Order: sequence, then structure tokens, then C-alpha cells
Amino acid sequence: MATADGTWAYRDRFGDSFGRTYFRRFPPGVCSSVGIGTYLGEPTDTVDAQYVAAVETALEHGINHVDTAINYRCQRSERAVGEALRRADVDRESVVVSTKGGFLPFDGERPEDPGRYIREQFVEPGIVDPESLVQGSHSLSPGFVDAMVDRSLSNLGVDRIDCYYLHNPETQLLENDREAVYEQLKTAFELLERRRAAGEIGGYGLATWQAFRVPQGHEQYLSLPAVLDRAVAAAETVGVDNHGLQALQLPFNVEMADAFTVKSQPTDEGPVSTLEYAHESGLSVVTSASIGQGDLAAAIPPAVDAELSGDTAAQRAINFARSAPGVTTSLVGMRSVDHVAENVAAGTFDPLGATAFDTVFE
Ligand SMILES: NC(=O)c1ccc[n+]([C@@H]2O[C@H](COP(=O)([O-])OP(=O)(O)OC[C@H]3O[C@@H](n4cnc5c(N)ncnc54)[C@H](OP(=O)(O)O)[C@@H]3O)[C@@H](O)[C@H]2O)c1
Repeated sequence: MATADGTWAYRDRFGDSFGRTYFRRFPPGVCSSVGIGTYLGEPTDTVDAQYVAAVETALEHGINHVDTAINYRCQRSERAVGEALRRADVDRESVVVSTKGGFLPFDGERPEDPGRYIREQFVEPGIVDPESLVQGSHSLSPGFVDAMVDRSLSNLGVDRIDCYYLHNPETQLLENDREAVYEQLKTAFELLERRRAAGEIGGYGLATWQAFRVPQGHEQYLSLPAVLDRAVAAAETVGVDNHGLQALQLPFNVEMADAFTVKSQPTDEGPVSTLEYAHESGLSVVTSASIGQGDLAAAIPPAVDAELSGDTAAQRAINFARSAPGVTTSLVGMRSVDHVAENVAAGTFDPLGATAFDTVFE
């Protein structure tokens, strides 16, 4: 598990090679503001080997924040992360490992008949209640999340997941009303509080695609104050002093800056952006799709590009995302070791200050 001592020692080992604020606070210590993600790619042995090499290289060159999910590449990405953690010349205590649960995962390959697979693997053994399923593939029921935490611990080969995200919880809003989804979050948080009290997860979060970048009134909108209330209530029910909701993951890049520009979160003084609300509430924000799933490595709109630092478009895109106020880490999916080298070097440039970041939007 990541520890304060372990992550600070990692910072001491690599920090001098990077620019200002490359390492940032993330419970229980610090982590790099460039992280490695493992979403894209086919579920094949070849891509597994690429991810093992990329994550190992990243860990040995200044990236100590690794993100995955149980359903990515049919559980193969979690297993590749586990293999890289064992191989890399870094202590487990120096690395923040996050994963996610919510989508029913395949195992190794896509089955010929997904409906039958879900029935046989999840419904009939009682792992998932069919009533809790949305679009036949997503559930936040505590029994299901509990089983997924066990499986992720095993896939990763770790005794603790540092940050466990509920994956795209807004999917539940496609078939349930908002109050029912907040209640689901509360019961899932209770389960996660119990796993946290048992030391099996360090903290938890919500990894979202729509929820925190769409305006109020959108079908897939979630209110951050309402979510935080449920975390407080869950901690009370379980009998722990402070809730473990610590992070939000959301897409953020040059072309998807809504978490900064859309004032969707209510406060007594009027609505503010998700980034501002999260920062004020002490939540870490981790960006996904930080280079637009590869598109921004080819071209960034010229007016924005001119304001950003970095030798390559990919580095400038990463530096946009990790310069946004309130962002802790920008995740970049990379299975190529050349991309790891290029992307980690984005961190040798100082991020934009708050005023310079605002200027990008003028
Ligand atoms: N809802 C959610 O929870 C959610 C959604 C999306 C993503 N995520 C997380 O966020 C991570 C990042 O998002 P993402 O992977 O979707 O998108 P991304 O990081 O914006 O882009 C990844 C793509 O960019 C390519 N790439 C990386 N560095 C490059 C470079 N220097 N030059 C050219 N191409 C480059 C990668 O290629 P190679 O792989 O070939 O290196 C990959 O195809 C994911 O891996 C995942 O962990 C979470």
C-alpha cells in the first residue's frame, strides 16, 4: 500500500528532475501529477506485455500514480499493473494504485454470448441482483462492489488498493431517479467504509464521464454536495470519524474543460465549477482522457497551443490538464514506452499559474 513515508521517499528520489509542483498531495502522501492509465487496447497477450513494460518504465522514471479498472481489457489491465508492480525497481509503498468497479467485467476475453456469461458468472451465483443492473452491464449494489474489490485485490496482487473508484456511477441515472442513485451511493459508500476500516482500501472516489462536467438539469448530472452528504452519512452509519471519499476522476483536456468552465455545483453564494467545489471540499481531482484519447498529441487548437509549455503537442496537452486549478494528477493512457518517456518529460516544465491558466480561456 502507498504510505506517506514511501511516497515522500519516491519524491526525494525523482523530484529534482522535474519542474515546480510536479509532485502533489494525495492521501496518504504525495504523487506525480502525470499518471499512467490502462484503459485502451485489445484484450490480447501482446497488449498485456506492452502495458507491463510501460507501467514498469513509468514507475522507474517518476510516475507513481497508476490507474486501472476491473473491466479494462477484460481484467487484463489490472493483471498487467500487478505484474509491473512486482517487476519495477520501486517499493510498493511508494506507488498510488487506483482501480474501479461498477461495470461487470469479462475475464480474459470477450465471451461469444455476453448475456449468458453475465447470467452464469454473476446472476446465478448471486454476485449481482439483476434488479440492480442498468443496461445489463452496470451495478453499484454493495454485494457486487464487495466481490469486485476482492477480485481487484487478487488481480493486482496487492493487499490494499489505495483509491477505489465507483466507475461511472451516473450510468445508474439512465434507469433510476436521482434520489435513488444517491441512496445507492450511500450504501456503496458504507461498504467501502467497511473495507477501508479493514485496511483493504486506502480511500475511495467516483470516476465519472458525464456527472461532474454537465450542467444541473442534465440527465446524468450529480451534485457534489449531495454526494459528500452521502459519504458523511455512510461514515456515521459504519461508525468511523471521517469519511474516506477522497477523489474524483473526470475527463479534462483542452477540448473538454467543462469541469473548469461549467458552474454546476451549488453553494450558498451561487454555483461554482466542479474543480472549485472539489478543491474547497478537500477532494483530489484526477483527470482522464488528458490528451483526448490521443487526438491532442496530433494537434491542439493553435491559440491555446501558443500559451502552453512543452516540446511536443502531447506534452503541451498534458501540461494544460495538470495546470488546471484543483487538479492533482493528469492520467495519460500509454502502452508505448516511447510515449512514457515523452509524457513523463512534460513534468520537467513548470505548470501554468492560475492567472496564465485563465488567460488560455480569453
Ligand atoms: N470514466 C472513467 O473512469 C475513465 C474514462 C476514460 C479514461 N479513464 C482513465 O484515464 C486514463 C487516460 O485516459 P485515456 O487512456 O482514455 O485517454 P488519453 O490518456 O487521453 O489518451 C490515451 C491514448 O493516447 C496515446 N498516447 C499517449 N501518449 C502519446 C504521445 N506522447 N503521442 C501520441 N499518442 C500518445 C496512447 O497510445 P499508446 O497506448 O499506444 O501509448 C493512447 O492511445 C485511462 O487510461 C483510464 O485509466 C477513466
